[in-house]
Amino acid sequence: MSDLTERDPFDTFADWMAEAERSEPNDPNAMALATADAHGVPSVRMVLLKGVDPRGFVFYTNTESRKGEQLLANTNAALCFHWKTLKRQIRVEGAVETVTDAEADAYFDSRPRDSRIGAWASQQSRPMEGRWELEKRVAQFAAKFAIGHVPRPPHWTGFRIVPRRIEFWQDRPFRLHERILFTREVMAGQPPGGWTTDRLFP
Ligand SMILES: Cc1cc2nc3c(=O)[nH]c(=O)nc-3n(C[C@H](O)[C@H](O)[C@H](O)COP(=O)(O)O)c2cc1C
Repeated sequence: MSDLTERDPFDTFADWMAEAERSEPNDPNAMALATADAHGVPSVRMVLLKGVDPRGFVFYTNTESRKGEQLLANTNAALCFHWKTLKRQIRVEGAVETVTDAEADAYFDSRPRDSRIGAWASQQSRPMEGRWELEKRVAQFAAKFAIGHVPRPPHWTGFRIVPRRIEFWQDRPFRLHERILFTREVMAGQPPGGWTTDRLFP
C-alpha cells in the first residue's frame, strides 16, 4: 500500500472492492451508514452500495424511513466498509445529496418486480400491527400494479455521499496498521477541491 498516497482514492476504492468481491462470502458492497438527526444524535445501520463514481457513493432507500428523515434534516453522513477476509476498512464522510429522478428510476426499474412491489408496501421504520399488515399491503399493491410497469414510489430514491474524507485502513502485524487519509473541501453547488493526503498513526 506504499503508493496509495499517489493514487486517486476512487481508483483505490475500486481495486479494494474488486478484491472484496472475490474474497467475501456475501455482500461485499454492504456498508454501515451513519446519519444524525437535526440535534446531531447519531444512528447507524447497514445498506448496500449500488453505485460509485467520482461524484460519490450511492445507496437506495425509503425517504420516509428513520434514516431518510435524518438525511433530509442533516445532510452530513458517514459510511464504513469492513472486509474481514482482507482485514481492511474504508471510512467515508461527506455531504449528502439525492440522486436525479432519472438515476433513481433506472435503478428501480432494474430491481425484481417483487422488490418493486415491496418498496410500495413497506412503510419502512414505522410500527406495524403484525406481519399480516405487510402481507396485506403487498397483496394490495400487487393487485394495483397487476398489469404493466411498477413505477418508483415517490418516497423511494437514492442518496449520494459526496466525500470530504476517505480513509483506507489495512491491517499490519502488531497493530502497526496502515492508515491513509484523503481530505478535500466540498461546498454546495461547486466542484470539489483537490485531495490532500496524510498518513495517520494507527
Ligand atoms: C447487509 C444489509 C444490507 C441492507 N441494505 C439496505 C439498503 O440498501 N437499503 C435500505 O433501505 N435498507 C437496507 N438494509 C436494512 C437497513 O439496515 C435498515 O434495517 C432499514 O433500512 C431501516 O433503517 P432506518 O430505520 O434507520 O431507516 C440492509 C440491511 C443489511 C443487514
